[in-house]
Amino acid sequence: MTPRRNHLTRVPGLLYGGDWNPEQWPEQVWAEDVKLMAEAGVNLVTVGVFSWARLQPDADSWDFGWLDRLLDLAHRHGIAVDLATATASPPAWLVRARPELLPVTADGVRLEFGSRQHYCPSSPAYRDAAVRLTRALAARYRHHPALALWHIHNEYGDHVQECFCPASAADFRRWLRERHGTIEELNRSWGTAFWSQHYNSFEQIEPPRTAPGPVNPTQLLDWRRFCSDALLDLHRAEKAVLDEVSPGVPVTTNFMSMLKALDYWEWSRHEDFVSDDAYPDPADPRAHVNAAMNYDLMRSLKGGRPWLLMEQAPSAVSWRPVNVPKRPGLYRLWSLQALARGADGVLHFQWRASVAGAEKFHSAMLPHRGTASRGWQETVRFGTELRRLGEIAGSRLRGRAAVLLDWDSWWALELDDHPSARMRWPDLLRPWYAALYERGVTVDFVPPTAELDGYPLVLAPNLYLLDTVTADRLTAYVRDGGRLVCGPFSGITDRHDHIHPGGHPGPLRELFGIVVDEHWPIPDGATTVVRLDGAEPHTELHAEHWSEWIETEAAETVAHYDSGALAGLPAVTRNRLGAGSAWYLSCHLGAGPGPVLDLALAEAGAGAELPDLPAGVEATRRHADDGTGYLFLLNHGPHELRVPLPTPGTDLLTGTEAAGAVTLAPLGAAVIRLPAAQERP
Ligand code: GAL
Repeated sequence: MTPRRNHLTRVPGLLYGGDWNPEQWPEQVWAEDVKLMAEAGVNLVTVGVFSWARLQPDADSWDFGWLDRLLDLAHRHGIAVDLATATASPPAWLVRARPELLPVTADGVRLEFGSRQHYCPSSPAYRDAAVRLTRALAARYRHHPALALWHIHNEYGDHVQECFCPASAADFRRWLRERHGTIEELNRSWGTAFWSQHYNSFEQIEPPRTAPGPVNPTQLLDWRRFCSDALLDLHRAEKAVLDEVSPGVPVTTNFMSMLKALDYWEWSRHEDFVSDDAYPDPADPRAHVNAAMNYDLMRSLKGGRPWLLMEQAPSAVSWRPVNVPKRPGLYRLWSLQALARGADGVLHFQWRASVAGAEKFHSAMLPHRGTASRGWQETVRFGTELRRLGEIAGSRLRGRAAVLLDWDSWWALELDDHPSARMRWPDLLRPWYAALYERGVTVDFVPPTAELDGYPLVLAPNLYLLDTVTADRLTAYVRDGGRLVCGPFSGITDRHDHIHPGGHPGPLRELFGIVVDEHWPIPDGATTVVRLDGAEPHTELHAEHWSEWIETEAAETVAHYDSGALAGLPAVTRNRLGAGSAWYLSCHLGAGPGPVLDLALAEAGAGAELPDLPAGVEATRRHADDGTGYLFLLNHGPHELRVPLPTPGTDLLTGTEAAGAVTLAPLGAAVIRLPAAQERP
């Protein structure tokens, strides 16, 4: 089959390449670069991410000659370019001329030049200069035949996520005015009657700089919202220029997986497609589970459309305390994992290993040792394999269950002075995701505003902050036949972080048929026994960090506490409402809520991608528009395994027919094309 059209850019098939930083090298090296890129099957390179100082040597001069030559060279060798706007690292001349653009910490320290990402998101000086550079690049290269994609900035939120300088303060006040309208409304929303925090005017408000004690939580929550919006405004300013000057060329910016600082639901609305940077740690034996979770999120941000792995390390990174390389086969397996979860390309940081600078020990597609290195051999081998998979471009996969993710709730959950500081969104989410992953159930992430009808099961590991509109939608979903499973410390506050009156879980009380009498955090290191009722033998689970004294109103008890102060009280409940049911877990089952989720999965009829999947094998299925299926089988374990196949097909990696079962070597993989006729729609 010929490679399918790639929906991300005009480059056909799957995308393969990396950050190319030619400004670090003499031009003779470029010629070797493009020759080797062709050998490796590279078809897209990201150029210019940190080139500002080279492109604009001072306020009034530009140097595009080298970039002209570079783009021409790439084009002559059939390599398309993802051209960066180069705005993530403002040059020294600009910083010295306009020092106020440097970011300031909550303690009032102005961060110095000498690294990267040294800018205040609300600085007019930075924004004007960034927009000017973007416009100059767009005007010069919009018709260049190598240009396939615009890459705005780099990793918004990396290094600097907030700034406390006077410009940020002014911008925060503007944002608050737009959001709250009047100072009376702000006082109400922030609950400023508490601790005499009343404001007479917006001019009296400052960012939440370091203060003697706990800062107003709604001020902090609004600050989180503002900081995400401030960076997004900056991004949109560049995007607007590209859309105006270079219409028709897709635009993206590289996300940073599940990043707390940026509300990616909101951000992704402004992307032509989602791209992500992912650096799972080869030293972590569970890294692939976390990676799967992040990739599911990236796919979900634009409703299941293909996304791009914009950066990954070919082997070791250089920024961990200990940087373990990828053992042979791991790079290939983890690259295929991104494709298995909806990516249409695999790009890297970076193409050629640097010899100077803070990242000179970071791996690259072309390592310091050159073409004799193991890394290079893997680069070439995987490039060849990727070409065999070209036909999967544009195909999609859909989850069998949905996980609710709300940045607002995440930010509010992790504010200070809560019953326990251990309730962090990623820690609450991970055991739930891992349990689903181990059961082979692919999930989509959804925002609280999503249509849930298509999912038989919706999971909400935590919904600390919840408005009544969302609560009503969840209730309607269950009444109409949906299954909802919700974790503890949910339905607590409204959008201003004020406690819902009438007992927790506030607007979800009727839906779950329970009321929380008191939160009962568990000290570090201790656990409380939770026993699943009805199961034989009685399954024993362990709650960590969190439990709740709950009383059932309409719900039935599914599991109860069997040790400690809450012994005998319900721990997990189910409430049948309308045609569906709502499950409530009042504790954090750190080692995994799997046995509870099994009950909900069975009730919802939501199952694994493949039955009888051996432990350690990840299976996902993408579908092309014509119904052709692509079954990815990835063996993350150390042993050879046999995986039964649902129907015969062709392994695209080897070109051989596969029927009955396939054998996967340790770290081995298969991508089986399943004919449309035998696939589910
Ligand atoms: C990313 C960044 C790259 C490079 C890479 C190293 O976060 O976008 O520029 O620094 O990390 O792993």
